[in-house]
Amino acid sequence: MFKTLRGRVIASYFIVVIISLLLASLFFLFFLSRYIRQRDSAELLRQVSVIAQDIDKLAASQLSQTQQPTTAQSQATKRVGLLPLLNAEAQVQQVKFLVVGPAGRVITESSNAPTLAGRTLDLPARILSETGPRISQRYFKLLGKDYLFATAPATAQGRSVYLLAIKPVAQVGSAVAPLIGYVSLAGGIALVLSMLLALYFSGALSKPIHEVTTAARRLADGDYSAEVPVRGSDETAELARDFNWMAERVRTAYELQRNFVGDVSHELRTPLTSIEGFTQALLDGVTSSPEEQRRSLEIINQESKRLVRVLRDLLLLSQIDAGEIHPDIRQADLVDVMRKLESIYAARAEETGTGLRVEPPRRALTLFTDPDRLERVLTNLLDNAFKYAATTGGTVVLSAAVQADSVEISVSDNGPGIPPEVLPHIFDRFYRVEKSRAQKHGGSGLGLSICKELVWTLGGTIKVSSQPGRGTTFSLTLPIT
Ligand SMILES: Nc1ncnc2c1ncn2[C@@H]1O[C@H](COP(=O)(O)OP(=O)(O)OP(=O)(O)O)[C@@H](O)[C@H]1O
Ligand SMILES: [Mg+2]
Repeated sequence: MFKTLRGRVIASYFIVVIISLLLASLFFLFFLSRYIRQRDSAELLRQVSVIAQDIDKLAASQLSQTQQPTTAQSQATKRVGLLPLLNAEAQVQQVKFLVVGPAGRVITESSNAPTLAGRTLDLPARILSETGPRISQRYFKLLGKDYLFATAPATAQGRSVYLLAIKPVAQVGSAVAPLIGYVSLAGGIALVLSMLLALYFSGALSKPIHEVTTAARRLADGDYSAEVPVRGSDETAELARDFNWMAERVRTAYELQRNFVGDVSHELRTPLTSIEGFTQALLDGVTSSPEEQRRSLEIINQESKRLVRVLRDLLLLSQIDAGEIHPDIRQADLVDVMRKLESIYAARAEETGTGLRVEPPRRALTLFTDPDRLERVLTNLLDNAFKYAATTGGTVVLSAAVQADSVEISVSDNGPGIPPEVLPHIFDRFYRVEKSRAQKHGGSGLGLSICKELVWTLGGTIKVSSQPGRGTTFSLTLPIT
């Protein structure tokens, strides 16, 4: 039972409820018995003072009876002696009354148990006060019990005496005893109700966790559609939301991987089919003229180079993914890097009839970066700009704008541009806007995804803006310090 979350919740409810009930019952019974004892003490004190006054009156009337003519009231009092008065009150009040002398000797007593006539009670001196009633509780060795007892001074048969009212403490406590049954019954009902609630709440708590576990197992078994319903906004809802988010990522990663494998096979199949076709033709002697043979060999060579390039790019991407590529950060002057690229691309600009403008920062700008990687990124961007802009005979611009703590290096062209709806996919692996056009340029759609990964390893960002028919600008931002 304690192995499951539900079992543990129920067990903890059970323990908490039992402890609370026990504590509540104990406090309730304790305070109730204290209250009853205080109430009984006050009552006993009141009784003892009233009866002491009655005894005084009785003594006074007996005295006046001998001196004055008999009145109607004194006649009545005369008939009531001290003992009958004590007995009558003892019966009504359920208390034992005693009249004791100053030394604690019992002079007379009500006839109810225990019988103490003639005995000397060991009473504390402060209890026998001349001035008024007193109350205390003590153990009477003589009676073998704890007694609550009240005293009040009185006068009987012309002597100063004390009226003593005693009541066993057990009798006070016994008022609480019948309540124990009721308290236990209420506790039992509370326990059953709280157990039912515990069953309900533990079910409500464990259900979403159970759903997440089931969905996680399905996901592990390859069911990528596994999802968990999100209810409410508590922690379990958060868990369900996080699980769904994770499942979504796993799904996306799985789909990317599947598409990637498809793209790779497709990318390799085209040149391999071409190589296979031309080599077969050469072997079969279909291409007989030396010119045709040369042309076939050129295509085979081109396709092989394409294959090598794709494989090299894929290897680089997989190394970046595996975190095996670490930038070789060192001091590099951006102006030098840009001038070097200018000299490399000048020939290409001339060849293709495309304009090239390089606008480096006015002063030397030292970057702490990996210059080889930076060159690789800019080469990819310049290659694209030349490849796609040369079609319109435009101009390629490589520029740098220095900001407070970063530099923005841009590669712009006024080529055909990229449609806005495909811009978000431009950095995806194997993504090409027009496959036929890109393939004509020998592009496999890996260049920009490599750029993005490399810029990221340099601590920078890359973005693109483009207007169809007007041109494209790729800008990468690198930190200066
Ligand atoms: N300057 C540009 N002008 C217009 N389209 C561009 C430009 N740069 C990139 N593109 C589009 O973005 C696509 C992706 O570019 P990317 O550099 O990733 O691949 P690629 O150039 O086709 O192939 P690779 O760079 O792997 O040889 C290109 O196919 C092209 O359609
Ligand atoms: Mg490219």
